[in-house]
Amino acid sequence: MANADFLNEINKRRTFAIISHPDAGKTTLTEKLLLFGGAIQVAGSVKGRKASRHATSDWMEMEQERGISITTSVMQFEHNEKLLNLLDTPGHEDFSEDTYRTLTAVDSALMVIDCAKGVEARTIKLMEVCRLRDTPIISFINKLDREGRDPLELIDEVESVLKIQCAPMTWPIGMGKRFKGVYHIYKDEVHVFSPTHGGKIATGEIFKGLDNPGLKELMGHDFEDFFEELELVREASTPFDIDAYLAGKQTPVFFGSAVNNFGVGELLDAFAEYAPAPQPRQAVEREVLPEEDKFSGFVFKVQANMDPAHRDRIAFMRICSGEYSQGMKINHVRIKKNIQVGNAITFQADSRKNVEQAFAGDIIGLHNHGTIQVGDTFTQGEALKFGGIPYFAPELFRKAVLKDPLRMKALQKGLTQLTEEGATQLFKPLRNNDLILGAVGVLQFEVTAQRLKSEYNVECVYDNAPITTARWVSCDDPKKFEEFKKKAHDSLAEDGGGYLVYLAKSRVNLSLTQERWPEITFSATREL
Ligand code: G4P
Repeated sequence: MANADFLNEINKRRTFAIISHPDAGKTTLTEKLLLFGGAIQVAGSVKGRKASRHATSDWMEMEQERGISITTSVMQFEHNEKLLNLLDTPGHEDFSEDTYRTLTAVDSALMVIDCAKGVEARTIKLMEVCRLRDTPIISFINKLDREGRDPLELIDEVESVLKIQCAPMTWPIGMGKRFKGVYHIYKDEVHVFSPTHGGKIATGEIFKGLDNPGLKELMGHDFEDFFEELELVREASTPFDIDAYLAGKQTPVFFGSAVNNFGVGELLDAFAEYAPAPQPRQAVEREVLPEEDKFSGFVFKVQANMDPAHRDRIAFMRICSGEYSQGMKINHVRIKKNIQVGNAITFQADSRKNVEQAFAGDIIGLHNHGTIQVGDTFTQGEALKFGGIPYFAPELFRKAVLKDPLRMKALQKGLTQLTEEGATQLFKPLRNNDLILGAVGVLQFEVTAQRLKSEYNVECVYDNAPITTARWVSCDDPKKFEEFKKKAHDSLAEDGGGYLVYLAKSRVNLSLTQERWPEITFSATREL
């Protein structure tokens, strides 16, 4: 490919994820974005997948749920000559680890906030992850067709709780029953709300300028209120600054109603215009630029395949530099092996298909028969290692107990391999031979037990483990660290990567230990 075409391919890519608290409207917004991008024809096709999201116990259902989420894991669509890769994550609470890792594979994010609820717990957590890499974020305050909180108050809350400056791009006129539309501050246009947009794209009426007599007539008294508020907003808020946005210090804010397909167009236009193209990636050895001609990428997620007949897994790889073409040979850096990739997959909203070509910024799916782990790097020969995929301290712990003691080796192997996927973590206490599993959500334990049975022929049950939380420990002073290790020996364990972890019986126990050992760093995340 000619150099200019190659650069153009990379520069037109926008790889992003949507972050939000459950129920804020992520799925609905995803669907509307796809609708705008022409990737789906009618609304409803994405939403449908949530029907089984509450399935908990039935293995097939879980399998299906995970499978379905694969097909919508990466959605590619075009808008205003940009090629957008939207990386989705299952809505299920238990898969939040996936969400965190997915954030390491994007260049920017969209944040959805419910106007009645404001900043919620999950959003705070996801924002912390975004902050690790200063990921640029565009915000969408959703559900303006319902009564919500005062928009100025919401902006204040985003600024103070999420510690990011807000730059309102649009401002709502009324709310709930009195919701009349949004005013685009920079285009000086009012987009009139019509709740009938429904499942297809429709552009509501647009008034240019605020001194439009027709507009005043249409809005009545609400317009006066809006006018006053707008003055306040103009005085109190900071203007949009693209550099501050790209540095992750400021978030442009849009208002709308995803379910009514309202305000989404403005959001998407701004996204295509301002969101960053594929960014350089830091490897341990050096920074890798997307436009380098040699291919490189890293795996941020491994997931079981939907097809139960094959039981292979899909490894999701973010391409960091260069170009993938069908049949090329790439080097699996960790195991120092070349592999030929003949059948990588890309994912569209409603189908999976083989890709012939993909560029930096794209995600491709590799068939994985157990040799690929989350965090693995692939290159065209150079020994690189991309870092930055965090492990999070689990909040739930179980001790794995074998039904047949003779199957211990198989259990160890199964657990080691399954926990390599990253959804559950394995801890081996220093003081005994227990196998402790940690997860963020309870469903993961069930999935692991089911998979141990079907894939490794090992039956295991769980005992409660008297552990509340875990912290990775480290210390600059080797002597002090040795002293700590001796004293805290009975509470220490090794994780799957051989790192030392403090398993705390309770929060109180953790804070007491932290107070007693100020020289020791207790970390709630571990970078891969
Ligand atoms: P999530 O993926 O973030 O969990 O949220 P999702 O899109 O599923 O939306 C959660 C609920 O909020 C859904 O209602 C959805 O229809 C509704 N919703 C999304 N956007 C808007 C909006 O702009 N205005 C209003 N009023 N509601 C909105 P549900 O009752 O849970 O599901 P459904 O039966 O409507 O599908």
